[in-house]
Amino acid sequence: MLDSYNRNVDYLRISVTDRCNLRCQYCIPEEGVNLFDCDDILKFEEIKDFVNVAVKKGIKKVRLTGGEPLVREGTVNLVSMLSKIEGINDLSLTTNGTLLNKYAVELKNAGLQRINISLDTLSTEKYKKITRNGNLSDVLKGIEAVQKAGFRPIKINCVVENSSDEKDAREVAEFCKINKLEVRFIHKMNLKKGEYTTVEGGKGGNCKSCNRLRLTANGKLKPCLFNDIEFDIRKLGYEKAIKMAIKMKPEFGKVNNINEFSNIGG
Ligand code: 5AD
Ligand code: SF4
Repeated sequence: MLDSYNRNVDYLRISVTDRCNLRCQYCIPEEGVNLFDCDDILKFEEIKDFVNVAVKKGIKKVRLTGGEPLVREGTVNLVSMLSKIEGINDLSLTTNGTLLNKYAVELKNAGLQRINISLDTLSTEKYKKITRNGNLSDVLKGIEAVQKAGFRPIKINCVVENSSDEKDAREVAEFCKINKLEVRFIHKMNLKKGEYTTVEGGKGGNCKSCNRLRLTANGKLKPCLFNDIEFDIRKLGYEKAIKMAIKMKPEFGKVNNINEFSNIGG
């Protein structure tokens, strides 16, 4: 699908839940967030039907995000449903890794192709501080589990304070080298202030080549992370929502006053 700026939009990121078992400082504000109404959360059947329409229109790549996608009951089943759709040549998951020890093998069997795991530090104390009480060892066990399950490549998302040259980032880079993981350094973004930059080692943050659409867990299709516009897929119908989102995809990101990272999935 070509948008008004001649970008070929073929990548759909689906936030399956706005809930998370961690509260990373850069993702969830201190005072907490308003969670979506449970009754509004898309059923897996709706997501499947929507993806079917999206794939017919040209989506080739699908990523599940959150919140934390694995805290939603049945996410593995959703992976199974989506992996059966012909035309998706890349089905992936972004996760904080804390539940991967439990789900790695099931996800592999369900047909998931790739995994990105968030890891900002190798210090237990620092991890606890950043995630407001998360357990680093859960993530490390999770990484081991996905390696054993045979996922390749496994990518690590490392959010940096200032640069990839700082202590935590260098330690994560070294850990990734030893364990044959690909690492990407992400600079802290701010939706409300419109602060974003390109991802070192990744493709995000470059408006000129942005090929993404995002679907929130309550069924709003968003053509840009840094913009308030969204199209309700239930109200408009799947096909029309996709058409409008492509037509209205902004040339550049500006600010997003209505979402948090935890409900738009980064
Ligand atoms: N800035 C940059 N990345 C963020 N993420 C969440 N909040 C932010 C933020 N403020 C991303 C991180 C994390 C993923 C789940 O979401 O990359 O790894
Ligand atoms: Fe949860 Fe990821 Fe946000 Fe951290 S960054 S609170 S793990 S959704």
